[in-house]
Amino acid sequence: MEQQRGNWSSNFGFILAATGSAIGLGNLWKFPFITWDNGGGAFVLVYLVCIAAVGLPIMMAELLIGRKTQKSAIGALREAVGPLWGLVGGWGVLCGFILLSYYTVIAGWSLFYFTKTVTWSTGGFPSDLSMGELFGAQSGNGGLQLIISLLFSIATVSVVYFGVQKGIERIARIFLPVLFAILALMLVSALTMSGSGEALAFIFRPNFAELRPSGVLEALGHSFFTLSLGMGLMITYGSYMDRTQSIVKASAIIIVLDTVVALVATVIMFSVIFSVAGMADEIGGSTVGMLFISLPELFYTVVPFGRILGPLFYVLIALAALTSSMSLLEVVTSYVIDEHGLERHKATLMCGASVFVFTVLAALSFGSTPWLSTMEIFDGKIGWFSTADHFVSNWMLPTGGLAITLAAGWFMTRETTEGELLDGIQPGWFSYGAWRFFIRFVAPIAVAAIIIAVLFFNVDFS
Ligand code: PHE
Repeated sequence: MEQQRGNWSSNFGFILAATGSAIGLGNLWKFPFITWDNGGGAFVLVYLVCIAAVGLPIMMAELLIGRKTQKSAIGALREAVGPLWGLVGGWGVLCGFILLSYYTVIAGWSLFYFTKTVTWSTGGFPSDLSMGELFGAQSGNGGLQLIISLLFSIATVSVVYFGVQKGIERIARIFLPVLFAILALMLVSALTMSGSGEALAFIFRPNFAELRPSGVLEALGHSFFTLSLGMGLMITYGSYMDRTQSIVKASAIIIVLDTVVALVATVIMFSVIFSVAGMADEIGGSTVGMLFISLPELFYTVVPFGRILGPLFYVLIALAALTSSMSLLEVVTSYVIDEHGLERHKATLMCGASVFVFTVLAALSFGSTPWLSTMEIFDGKIGWFSTADHFVSNWMLPTGGLAITLAAGWFMTRETTEGELLDGIQPGWFSYGAWRFFIRFVAPIAVAAIIIAVLFFNVDFS
């Protein structure tokens, strides 16, 4: 029997859910680090250009394909473009599957640090504790890793189990405002710190001498990751949209909110770091370092109201991760529901369990299981986790993204895309002609540049 397809209860609910998918570990964990690594201002400026010139048109393309067909990634591409295009959708579903499997591990860490900071806030911060050692001990403890990632997986499955409106949309409606409130509190605290001036200058004053060509490509690669593009996720979310909702307006709001959150998170973290003499030199070449090694201690030494903000910060990371992980599981689940006719509850449990098998591999790849921790398929990417992240960020998202731009720009008719984008009331700044130019030329050329860079110049986006 055909089950009724899910849909968003309102435009607002949809925007919150899609924004929740976009805002995640990419904003809080990856973006501050790559901004740091690429020398600040000039990189940020390039990133903003990538978001507007590539991210925005592709966001509209994915949403329009989904809304038009009312199908999840595979079925939507097959119907909108042609039978073979189902393979691109399949690539996206696989990408969601792998991404979710390792994303869950980092999300699990936020649970660990949440319990730690609660203990420190109530019982006092142990002055002789080395944060580096603590991090190594928790990430290398296989049993602990399995427990925290299982807890987080259960949370993700529980949301998707209840469907689009009662699960995903409801959680986004509750958690996103909480997330914004925590972020605002932290921003206020950060701006009172002595390092905030230096942090703002670092982030917003472009110094082009610092920018490497690889930084430009990294900015482009990250714009896919942070906006949840390139794997058909926004196709799936678009498929639950109502025809009266404006794709253009929704895309603009999602993109602005995602960017603001990434910038605010960066201002917060850098204000803290610049407030401590010598700290800037200590931030090593690792993404995890900033969030889980440098920051925890600083809440107890320099951050005003750090005893309250510390635990809240890790709640923030967990909530941001959950609103993204649920969207990833929805991509996989909706494929099983739409294409194989499974009932939602069964489909969710089955997909959640299958993904978790791979989460186990990622969770055990931080020292607890030698072969998982030392395997090296891609040069310099040691361990299962880094291998999976490298494969997704460098290969799957850019190639999926390229295929989607080509589908919308070259393989779908002008009438179809124009009809979808001009449906509903459009904001005055939108020009269909400009969108078409960006989706046909600017975006594919930029994305092809990423792929060529990865293939021939060994640039790394993970
Ligand atoms: N956008 C999410 C983040 O920034 C990650 C993500 C990518 C989620 C792709 C869904 C799909 O963390």
